[in-house]
Amino acid sequence: MKKIISIKKRINTFNQEINISGDKSLSIRWVLLASQAVGKSKAYNLLMSEDVMAAIDSIKKLGIEVKIGRNYCEIYGNGINGFKYKKNLILDAKNSGTLGRLMLGLLVKSPYKIKLIGDKSLSKRDFSRVTAPLEKFGTKFYYAKKNKLPLSILGSKSIEGIDYLEDKGSAQCKSSVMLAALNASGTTSIKAKKSRNHSELLFKYLKIPTKIKKTKKYDFINIRQPKKIKAFNYQIPGDISSSAFFIVLATLTNNSKLLIKDVNINPSRTGVIEILKKMGAKIFFKNIRIYKGEKISNILIKGSKKLKAINCPSKLNSSAIDEFLIIFLVAARARGVSHFRDLSELNQKESPRLDWGAKILNMMGVKTKLTKTSIKIYGQPNLEIKKLIIIKNYLKDHRIFMMSVIAALTCGGEWRIHDPDSINSSFPSFLKIIKKLNT
Ligand code: S3P
Repeated sequence: MKKIISIKKRINTFNQEINISGDKSLSIRWVLLASQAVGKSKAYNLLMSEDVMAAIDSIKKLGIEVKIGRNYCEIYGNGINGFKYKKNLILDAKNSGTLGRLMLGLLVKSPYKIKLIGDKSLSKRDFSRVTAPLEKFGTKFYYAKKNKLPLSILGSKSIEGIDYLEDKGSAQCKSSVMLAALNASGTTSIKAKKSRNHSELLFKYLKIPTKIKKTKKYDFINIRQPKKIKAFNYQIPGDISSSAFFIVLATLTNNSKLLIKDVNINPSRTGVIEILKKMGAKIFFKNIRIYKGEKISNILIKGSKKLKAINCPSKLNSSAIDEFLIIFLVAARARGVSHFRDLSELNQKESPRLDWGAKILNMMGVKTKLTKTSIKIYGQPNLEIKKLIIIKNYLKDHRIFMMSVIAALTCGGEWRIHDPDSINSSFPSFLKIIKKLNT
């Protein structure tokens, strides 16, 4: 792949149908849960990106057999905590916070120390948010640098359920403790602020004894240790977070029409749709169906001429958490001043995304007011960039790269965007789809 891509022209009107690769959260969860099942599980349309390959490599190092075919992946699980490995094992979560954090949940009983490493971006992120609750199970953690990777984990022989309050709205923290609960006798009780609920839906589907009570702000999840998990097949639906870049591309391209097939529209992930619709985007769900508890739909998007600013309700933050960069781009083209608040979690991602969002908009000539937790964006419906914009040194955050490409194709100017290989962590076919639409 090239080291820099250059874009000098806006995209022309398009009318097309596309498929988006498999959902990343579900792909990683399927790999990890299939490794705990008994026998052969098979997934179709598994996302074949670096984050998911890192999950597959990790379970292989833990003694699990994996076969990868043209459009399927088979995992031969050895049951709960059925890992077999030698001393001095090193696992590499690469760029993936989800993998690193969920994986630790599965290792709470590891008899030998295992070292967990990650890439430059992941090594800047906080791991105490999962190691603190996992320590309550009796598991030990050894950090070289405070709360950052690399770390080592040493399990405890017998583990009992814990009570845990998850108050960041982090699905990774919630899911890490849920996976640890598979190893714990008694009941693990989690009180969790709202976040994506794929783990809960999978636990229910797999008949892992799980009780869930929902209140307005929190979900109460009680998990009892299952005797075993049956092997299971799964058709991974398209990723809404990856789709979001194309939803915005179509929204910002006059008279365009785009149909995205088979996307996961789990309500805990559709904040981006709600926000964009409030701003005047024309987005429609077509053919909604339920698959193993997950909601799937085709999504139809039509170009929108009149976009208006939003005073974004914070209650939508968690269901749009990975989409704010691309939402900020729409705000940059909307009439009026948009306001997004309570977004401190955005600076905890693959890069400090709240800061980067402001930085890129400023480079585009769009005024912003930034605090540590919020941003105001002064929209320009007729924005026409006339200068050279260079995007580099962004910790290879895949979503910064993709946002920049969509900005270049919809707002003009000349763009040089470094490190296109950053897309490989979540969406390796991104540029191929752009090419298909941009002919
Ligand atoms: C994810 C949860 C979110 C999200 C990430 C994927 C998951 O992170 O940003 O891309 O699959 O559980 P947090 O749990 O830190 O909010």
